[in-house]
Amino acid sequence: MNKFLPPYLGAAYYPEAWERTELEKDISRMKELGVNVVRIAEFAWIFMEPEEGKYDFEWLHRAVRALGDAGIAVVICTPTATPPAWLTKKYPEVLAAMPTGQKFVHGARRHYCPNSPVYREFSNRIITHLAREFGKYPQVVAWQLDNEFSCHINACYCEICEREFRQFLRKIYRTVENLNQCWGTGLWSIKFNSFDEIPLPKPAPAMHHPSLIFYFKYFMSHSFSDYAREQVRIIRKYSGAPITTNGMPPWHELDYEDLFSNLDFASNDLYYPPAELWKWCPELDWMRPIKKKPYWVMETSATGAGGLIPAAVFVHNPGAIRAKCWLAYALGGEAVLFWLWRAHWSGQEMEHGSLVYAWGEPTLAEKEFRQVSKEIEKTRDFLISTKPEKPLVGIHFSYPALWLFNMGHLVPNFNYINSWHENYYRILLDAGISRDVLYPDSDIMDYKVVLSPFMAIVPKRTRNKMYEFVRNGGLWIIGPMSAFRNEHATAFKEGAYGPLEKIIGAHIRHRFQAPPGGMKINLAGYKNASCSLWCDAFIPEKGTKVIASYADGPAKGMAAIVERKTGKGKIIVLGTHLNREVLSGWLVKEIKKYASVEPEGGKGIIVVKRIGEKRSLEGIIAVDIAGKGGGIALEKEGIELLTGKRAGKVFSLPPYGVAVVKL
Ligand code: GLA
Repeated sequence: MNKFLPPYLGAAYYPEAWERTELEKDISRMKELGVNVVRIAEFAWIFMEPEEGKYDFEWLHRAVRALGDAGIAVVICTPTATPPAWLTKKYPEVLAAMPTGQKFVHGARRHYCPNSPVYREFSNRIITHLAREFGKYPQVVAWQLDNEFSCHINACYCEICEREFRQFLRKIYRTVENLNQCWGTGLWSIKFNSFDEIPLPKPAPAMHHPSLIFYFKYFMSHSFSDYAREQVRIIRKYSGAPITTNGMPPWHELDYEDLFSNLDFASNDLYYPPAELWKWCPELDWMRPIKKKPYWVMETSATGAGGLIPAAVFVHNPGAIRAKCWLAYALGGEAVLFWLWRAHWSGQEMEHGSLVYAWGEPTLAEKEFRQVSKEIEKTRDFLISTKPEKPLVGIHFSYPALWLFNMGHLVPNFNYINSWHENYYRILLDAGISRDVLYPDSDIMDYKVVLSPFMAIVPKRTRNKMYEFVRNGGLWIIGPMSAFRNEHATAFKEGAYGPLEKIIGAHIRHRFQAPPGGMKINLAGYKNASCSLWCDAFIPEKGTKVIASYADGPAKGMAAIVERKTGKGKIIVLGTHLNREVLSGWLVKEIKKYASVEPEGGKGIIVVKRIGEKRSLEGIIAVDIAGKGGGIALEKEGIELLTGKRAGKVFSLPPYGVAVVKL
């Protein structure tokens, strides 16, 4: 019988950093605390290949065997985030370069170029050995590629990347004339005579051409995903265990829709401070639908987070560690791992929080870790046999939009991630509307409502899908600041939203930035409506309804929000960004017309309906992530599985409380 089954709770472990005699002690402490999974080997290349072509896996076999014997599952990581000194010294071309062209030096991490053929060659060799040696252990339940692709540096400006970038563009545009035409490079006499003249966006007196910057971001993102695909191909030859990589929240610009397309399950590292636990939700909400499989939280901090990120020193209030673990399980996760098991006694991250101090005693996280470990054991059957109910509402997040907005100069101080988080996503969360975070290529036909705020580029495929979705009865709420660039990152010549104007049944007649104090909006039922950021003013076609108009400013009287029925469904276009209070009231009301979603928990309490194999409602998991506690109303009474007591239809959670109710 397989004894290495989820749900998992564990940590990252670096046995290579300790004397051999510590292994047994560490494993017995792990058992004592309730660890049932360990992630291992992630930065250990120098221990695996101390010299070029000389391999040593004995230490790792010993650790993997001992962990397995203790009933602890293992995730093996490829060590490619930290090339050893012999490699970078002998083959300096593997080092990544800064925008100035200067190469990074050995001594930190992630200093390799993902496009270097020499690096790929050495990486392929070490991964081949690793996968061959460890591919068949039953305790190896998963593989993790590299570590946080694109963390610290998300671009390399070396000569190899320059060459590859040109190749990448050649594949997309075929001829340089076509590229010049699509990018409109005549301006500023940028026009290229051949692909070889195309530069990387290295330092220049003024901004580079936006299409060049945009495609360079696309190229670098593609480079990391391509490198991940190469690693996957090797591991699959030797192991049937599922493969993932540990992601991060989106600011690093690596397109996860692409990166995870070839991986088996999603995983993520979440270091939001306890006061911002709600920011875990969008991360869990993209990981659940992307592979339609239970996701993992691969790293979170056990006590403080320090070391590399001194600004994020924080303390968990009592209950917060338990609450964050349960949040991850509730929304569809099957594993939570802390970073790290035992604090480092040396190196860059000695002050980072951990489960055990460097001297071997448990940290302040001990009590709640033990508790969660017992609780997931107790509720194992429920957790495994049920999954979160599929949300009826989806919200698009787009990496191409992130690339574009990160290039700046559109609206002063606009931050795509923050605006997306704090407004559209948070409104759904606070209203108790369960939601999936979708990417431009996600399947959307099973939803009732899809929101696409700040989706700067709506690619043709997405546009066609969304049109189909609406005709079939869906509600698509698009904007503000969406669909205003085409796939070349240039403006549409035929109208502000290009081909989308036909679908929305309105012409964008004016566009301007909202004045700093905002402008008033006429929106029935909302006296205090105002807008900010960006204003598109519409001329509706016949059959298009005006939902709101500008009450003052240069487009006074013109439509600011329009609605168009199409087939069985409807499109609503927000030409501007409504003030938070009004946006929230209006949005939730509109969504509820399409998707009967009743909020159940109070603000800050996440209530997840859990569905059984026969699609019936089996229970709920409720977690207070705001630390304030509050009431919950259920459809019927049930049994609270953690206490074994009856749960009434109405009950309350204490601050950071958790309830697992079988209905
Ligand atoms: C990242 C890395 C870890 C560690 C932590 C510290 O998530 O993957 O190796 O550096 O940050 O918070």
